[in-house]
Amino acid sequence: MASFSWNRLPEQYSDAVRSQAFIGEELIGTIGFKPEDRVLDAGCGVGNLTLDIARMVPEGSVTGMDISEGRIAQCRDLFRNEKIPNARFYVGSIEEMTEEEEYTIVFSNSVFQWVTDLDLALSSFHRALRTGGLAAIQFPRLFGDHPMIFYPEKAIRELKLEEYFKDWTFPACVPSEGELKKAMERAGFSEILIREDETAFSFPTAQKLFDHFKNVGYARYTQRLPEEYEEAFLRKILQDIEEDYTKDKTQRCRRWFAYGRKKEGAATQ
Ligand SMILES: C[S@@+](CC[C@H](N)C(=O)[O-])C[C@H]1O[C@@H](n2cnc3c(N)ncnc32)[C@H](O)[C@@H]1O
Repeated sequence: MASFSWNRLPEQYSDAVRSQAFIGEELIGTIGFKPEDRVLDAGCGVGNLTLDIARMVPEGSVTGMDISEGRIAQCRDLFRNEKIPNARFYVGSIEEMTEEEEYTIVFSNSVFQWVTDLDLALSSFHRALRTGGLAAIQFPRLFGDHPMIFYPEKAIRELKLEEYFKDWTFPACVPSEGELKKAMERAGFSEILIREDETAFSFPTAQKLFDHFKNVGYARYTQRLPEEYEEAFLRKILQDIEEDYTKDKTQRCRRWFAYGRKKEGAATQ
């Protein structure tokens, strides 16, 4: 039974992150960066969006933070190669951030589905912002119809593996709109705006879709299984994806776009 770690993801995960970039670019496009902004990219992954942001704030700075040491090493290499000076990186988690009043914008794309404590994560963001600063967060709603959840759940039922998943739910942060709004209010945010969006995406082959979710999503399931079942479980997932791919290659994913501002005198909860 293998345990999950963000540090043990293979290189392939970088490709997966890059293929989601268009959603991050949509979030970037809604913000209106000023050249002097001081930005945190929380859960920056391999740094592709951090690079876009760095170019938009030439008189300011960008800080990239991620829980994975490997990703941060990749970011540092990328920025060294691109010769971008106004950036720094550190390994850390959103829930344990210690910055106070440092940033004018706190940005996070496709990360909040993995936070372990939504209140703690939002409080970290609020505390890290200067007065007037903006938090801009985008993350997928990992419901049962999402391919990261749908195919493993089907495999569990059809291979009769339920006994290994008793009293367990997929460890994702999946708030409703009301829960997300309340959590942002509790953290101290004002001018809260929450928008749901649906993105359609497709991978050229079933194998590519499987690879995309294998290391982050399916790994959460296989870590619960005795080793001798892992291969059959993953094979079943791939077969089901392949079968569906003969009908329709398009996957749909619903997402939250959430924004909040830190107002004058607002205490972080
Ligand atoms: C889907 S990737 C998104 C990367 C990047 N933001 C992008 O849009 O390309 C999720 C990233 O979140 C990081 N991550 C997961 N949980 C985290 C946490 N609690 N704090 C900071 N980073 C986290 C992972 O290491 C991974 O790089």
